[in-house]
Amino acid sequence: LFKDEPNNLSLLSNASAFIKQNISDLNWVGFYLFDGTNLTLGPFQGKVACNIIAPGKGVVGTGFNKKEVIIVKDVSKIDNHIYCDPASQSEIVLPIFNKNDVFAIFDIDSPVIGRFDDELSEFLMNFTNILQSFIDFNKALI
Ligand code: SME
Repeated sequence: LFKDEPNNLSLLSNASAFIKQNISDLNWVGFYLFDGTNLTLGPFQGKVACNIIAPGKGVVGTGFNKKEVIIVKDVSKIDNHIYCDPASQSEIVLPIFNKNDVFAIFDIDSPVIGRFDDELSEFLMNFTNILQSFIDFNKALI
């Protein structure tokens, strides 16, 4: 899927489609791209979503600031969650790095509480690492 794809936009588009198509119980799969100030909506699969998220806001902005994977078992139990799709019950965000800087946040929502168990989370971390290695950071996406 990735190795013959030189275009970052196509790469991220197909990455979101691949995950949505092959993993059950996901309602939103997509990318928020850091534009130098905020995280702005990139390629995704799912319902119309919030288009701009500030660092520190929501799970996406928290993952960005902390530079780490965040898994939320039940989004109704945390204050700092932005509801884009009310069907979302659990969420994982995975940073994509260009050296030490966060280039984008890979954000995945599920309509099932606790969907992101150890096995799925580990798979998504590996997937994100592979995807990251195929992004050409010399080419601007936004
Ligand atoms: N729930 C996210 C916002 C993005 S949507 O899930 C597509 C958050 O709390 O940052």
